Amino acid sequence: MKILVTGGAGYIGSHTCIELLENGHDIVVVDNFSNSKPEVIDKIKEISGKDFSFYELDLCDKDALEEVFKKEQIEAAIHFAGYKAVGESVKKPLMYYQNNLLSTLVLCELLAKYDCKKLVFSSSATVYGSPDHLPITEDFPLSTTNPYGTTKLMIEQILKDLHISDPTWDIVILRYFNPIGAHESGFIGESPNNIPNNLMPYIVKVANKELPELGIFGDDYETKDGTGVRDYIHVCDLAHGHLLALNKLNDHAIHYYNLGTGNGYSVLDLVETFKRVNNIDVPYTIKDRRPGDIAACYADPSKAQKELGFVAERTLDDMCKSAWNFILKNK
Ligand code: UFG
Repeated sequence: MKILVTGGAGYIGSHTCIELLENGHDIVVVDNFSNSKPEVIDKIKEISGKDFSFYELDLCDKDALEEVFKKEQIEAAIHFAGYKAVGESVKKPLMYYQNNLLSTLVLCELLAKYDCKKLVFSSSATVYGSPDHLPITEDFPLSTTNPYGTTKLMIEQILKDLHISDPTWDIVILRYFNPIGAHESGFIGESPNNIPNNLMPYIVKVANKELPELGIFGDDYETKDGTGVRDYIHVCDLAHGHLLALNKLNDHAIHYYNLGTGNGYSVLDLVETFKRVNNIDVPYTIKDRRPGDIAACYADPSKAQKELGFVAERTLDDMCKSAWNFILKNK
């Protein structure tokens, strides 16, 4: 299939591009490098040994995106592009609503106009808000605690309405848990431009002595060691989930899947694993809880397993090793 990948130079997008290319798909990548770097495009080509078309553009620019649809025979889209920093979204809600919603509306309009009504959308476990119990299944009630999360939930609603209005659309909504790690080559990985908000990128910067120490946000949660528990999933497993999701774009339905491992690990689990497998120190101190954080969050991944054949194969050791390998290879 010829697949339009929006945000293909980003963290999850770039790993998915490789997975698609290695499995015989053609891709057309669009990105405006708002949180990624142009060299990633070359690295995707190098790793996969395949060429593809790339367009630097803002998805909100309908005319620019329409030129891509005119030139390329696009058959489906995987939509990664969007702003994703929780804290920033609280400070700049209009920027988040404007960018994340408008870009999706423009994309859907063009997918409909050029008669390729097949879409895989990057959603997030953030749409489950603060869940009552665990593990989380896809039918849990939905709510959000910040504008970033609300954009994900609003887009899910838009896609649901779109599917009601025209049931010939094929839509798969993937709700990611916590992707970490990097491609085994060490050529691509997660490299946020500023001080990281998320745990793993922060750990690697401390290990690399770019930041003095990690602050652990609370050790008094009702979890096994008091620190927050999350479902960390290797980004390459997550990328594979997108490949499998393409198989569901054939029954004129809208599907929802959790992409996680089903395992919950605490902040201390992750820090200690990272230290052990990489034989490196990660100094930390315990800080106050971070506002908006929940104690624990992990998936019931059985629906994705049953319907997509999705199984996350890589371990926490693999995730920690590959995240550090990416730093070592890029020093
Ligand atoms: N944490 C720290 N110190 C840090 C950063 C994080 O202790 O410097 C802790 C958090 O308190 C939390 C855990 O590490 O317990 C994971 O935090 P992340 O920021 O890495 O991830 P979140 O689970 O908060 O958020 C992630 C994504 C969101 C997404 C959400 C879905 O960043 O985009 O998962 O559940 F919405």
